[in-house]
Amino acid sequence: MSLVSRTHPGYGRGDHTIDVELLDDSELIAELRGLFARDDYRPPMPPTVALEVHALSKRADADIDAIVGLVERDAMLAAEVLRIAQSPAYAARMPPRTLGEAVMRLGLGNLMQVVWQAALNAKVFKAKAYEAPMGSLRRHSVAMAHASRAVAAHTSVAEDQAFLFGLLHDIGFAACFIALAERRQREPIDVRQEAAALDALHAEAGETLAQLWNLPKELELCVGHHTVAEIQGYAHPLLATGLVAQHLVEELGFGLIVDDVALEHTSGAAYARAKDSLALADGVIAGLRSDLEMRLPKALGEG
Ligand SMILES: [Fe+2]
Ligand SMILES: [Fe+2]
Repeated sequence: MSLVSRTHPGYGRGDHTIDVELLDDSELIAELRGLFARDDYRPPMPPTVALEVHALSKRADADIDAIVGLVERDAMLAAEVLRIAQSPAYAARMPPRTLGEAVMRLGLGNLMQVVWQAALNAKVFKAKAYEAPMGSLRRHSVAMAHASRAVAAHTSVAEDQAFLFGLLHDIGFAACFIALAERRQREPIDVRQEAAALDALHAEAGETLAQLWNLPKELELCVGHHTVAEIQGYAHPLLATGLVAQHLVEELGFGLIVDDVALEHTSGAAYARAKDSLALADGVIAGLRSDLEMRLPKALGEG
């Protein structure tokens, strides 16, 4: 792969074409692909508790005490669930004091969203030597979760599914940073220099991770295809919802950026197709933008 395209100064700052064929020759892509394909590859934290809570909450006879019990099994996760439940995005005037109180107040739908966010914060969005990009990834992913849910409210997509997709869509970046952090006797890479290579690989890496975590098949497919609005030529509402959300969060300053360099690039054409396929009028997009401009800083504890 040519160094010129890898370090393109305008990368991530507009609508230009990246030669993916050339990127396929990248040493970094080859190395990471090889690593993810190995039998002994250990993915970052299969969120067992999150998956168990997810499965339990889908049952018609879901018992809140049983769910609290599951979350409590993992002290770090429990503390993170409580912390998020106390944040302005969820807390009423009196923030919950205990996990049980938090769960009662959140209700099952919100609880699932908080558990997933906590699971990723506590165990996945962490890699020594990659703290800055992981911090940006965490911020972008939470913004995407809230934005995707807001967009979904104007479509046929279920809001909780959109939230989870937004939160998980870029987990491939986390898989890459963690794999790079675990390389023995190797210096950390400059992610800004390798932005194009990481961008080219992250959807595929995310699909691998989603598969290893046994996530629902549709979610796995959408994570793997989230840079386009279609799967095998057919518009997919969840993908389209994510693309519209991605466009909005980037506009509002919640993109995946490290030191002014965008780590992912979403094409304007893909956004236009997504918006059309969901039949979202310009007025709806404008309303979403101003609503998210107010809500995202709160959701991220920045407001
Ligand atoms: Fe993204
Ligand atoms: Fe992405």
